[in-house]
Amino acid sequence: MDNDLYKLQRTALDEIQQAESKMALENLRVKFLGKAGAISRLSENMRKLPKEDRPHTGKLLNEIRNAVTAALESRLDTIEAEGTAQILSDIDETLPGTRFRVGGLHPLTLLQDQAVRTFRRLGFALADGPDIETEWHCFDALNTPANHPARNDSDTFYLPDGRLLRSHTSSVQIRTMGAQKPPVRVIGPGAAYRRDEIDATHLNQFNQLEGLYVDRDVSVADLKGTLEYFVRELLGHEVQTRLRPHFFPFTEPSFELDIRLQAIQGGKWMELLGCGMVHPAVFEEINAKRGDSAYDPEDWTGFAFGMGLERLAMSLFGLPDIRLLIENDQRFLAQFAR
Ligand code: PHE
Repeated sequence: MDNDLYKLQRTALDEIQQAESKMALENLRVKFLGKAGAISRLSENMRKLPKEDRPHTGKLLNEIRNAVTAALESRLDTIEAEGTAQILSDIDETLPGTRFRVGGLHPLTLLQDQAVRTFRRLGFALADGPDIETEWHCFDALNTPANHPARNDSDTFYLPDGRLLRSHTSSVQIRTMGAQKPPVRVIGPGAAYRRDEIDATHLNQFNQLEGLYVDRDVSVADLKGTLEYFVRELLGHEVQTRLRPHFFPFTEPSFELDIRLQAIQGGKWMELLGCGMVHPAVFEEINAKRGDSAYDPEDWTGFAFGMGLERLAMSLFGLPDIRLLIENDQRFLAQFAR
């Protein structure tokens, strides 16, 4: 019997040595060590041996089982190591890697963030109001008479219930003063809507940045200083500014702030925003609504301003068409990603 056993061991070790895959090894494991395998079968045959021979044969069988197990393990290690080496040698490490596509902020978001950051440094807090407004918040409280052209159906989107999509963010001024007493220093970025035909310079939904400052003894000098600081933070110290007289129903006096910078439109004066000193009639309307005299125009003065972000982006970035800002063309947007 010993001879048979040694032969079996040699066969097993030979076959294991020649196995080329994990699958082949697994088959050999079953063939030799499995329940119906050769070694198990021989173990069962032991019962037929004379009693005195059994310990010796049992020991031999154990040794063979251990040897075969060890051979299987070591061959498995070798096959796995060869596989890894093959995979590694198949990799061409001179090829470029897979590029990570990192998202970026929209140019308008970048611009708005920068503007808001600058005003926050001056102590302005963020404020907002609803996009769907009442006529009172959008017009009446802002001293805008019923026959003002902005109130026309043809200029403003009205809802069937008489409310409207705010045509400017100046309603945020009204929302803020309705909710808090002076002093007030807020910046309100948000969407505004007008019934304009969409073309290279018009959208019917765009973004504005509204500002309101109410305190004791606020003057045009404060308005000018604040806006000049803002413009320089945004565009650098070479930028020139000028206040040009204008008209808004809710400010008196009213201005437009123009800027001039060689790098923008070849140094032509460019209109940046509307602004002015809060009209006393606005304060009175707020008081009437609040039912107090928190905004007594004898005690408080203020300035307000509102700028269109798309127009500013167009000038800053030299965009030929405002629609670039809403088309989500990645070839355009990727140029602003940082
Ligand atoms: N709301 C005005 C507009 O949309 C801008 C403005 C805001 C003017 C605040 C004066 C004060 O044109």
